Amino acid sequence: MTDPLRLWRRIAGSSVLLDGFHALKHALRFGAEVPVAVTADRRAALDLAGELAPDVRDRLDALLAEVPQETYAALVPRPHPTAVAALAVRPDREDQLRTLARTPRSAPVVVLAQPRNLGNAGAVIRLAAGFGATGVVTTGTLDPWHPTVVRGGAGLHFATAVERLDADGLPPGPLFALDPEGEDIRGLELPDDAVLAFGSERSGLSDALRARTDHLVALPMRPQVSSYNLATSVAMTLYHWSATGGAPHAPVRD
Ligand SMILES: C[S@@+](CC[C@H](N)C(=O)[O-])C[C@H]1O[C@@H](n2cnc3c(N)ncnc32)[C@H](O)[C@@H]1O
Repeated sequence: MTDPLRLWRRIAGSSVLLDGFHALKHALRFGAEVPVAVTADRRAALDLAGELAPDVRDRLDALLAEVPQETYAALVPRPHPTAVAALAVRPDREDQLRTLARTPRSAPVVVLAQPRNLGNAGAVIRLAAGFGATGVVTTGTLDPWHPTVVRGGAGLHFATAVERLDADGLPPGPLFALDPEGEDIRGLELPDDAVLAFGSERSGLSDALRARTDHLVALPMRPQVSSYNLATSVAMTLYHWSATGGAPHAPVRD
């Protein structure tokens, strides 16, 4: 059997860090390839799995190697309360691009145009996974696979297609751009093949994106409030899509 620490050191540079029990649980549920997983307390991790994730307990039992607390702490930027960490293989970009480009589509793609905040990007990926969106595309310099984004996404990058694209290479489909100056979303139905675009936290939608959009859409907001947070805007929009005919999904577990 391969020494888990040796394997960790060999592949860490090219892998996705799954930081904590919940990230590992989600990644396994959504088909991630996980070559190595460690914990400082195997008993506690398996008890947690028995309680919260019996569907992946056997796989965790086979995968988790116990290492001393100091060894675990040295492998991660900030030790997680569950003392679990794993490395996953990043999905192939060409496969992800094919998923994003495929039509007809049964659920929207979310586009974050020039996002700045890594925590927002992680929260949006978690939302997209929860609503069964086809994927999350970012434009600009933020890397949607940055470890802080993956941490914020709770391992759910493996449940939806996540890629960075050029602004002029967005997936096909009618473009709905969200902006307080648009038409009230409550009078609209968002189609399953929609591309839902959101502007940057700092400067909102660019003029170029605004000019290309098929529909400019506003979330209801009382006068004198300037805007909502980016991730909460995505949450309201995906909820609206799901509530007006969008794909239903099974009850979500922890
Ligand atoms: C924090 S806001 C951007 C605020 C920015 N200062 C501006 O001038 O637009 C980030 C993004 O969330 C979405 N958003 C926020 N509030 C919205 C609203 N009331 N209606 C539609 N979209 C909204 C938009 O896509 C916006 O570009």
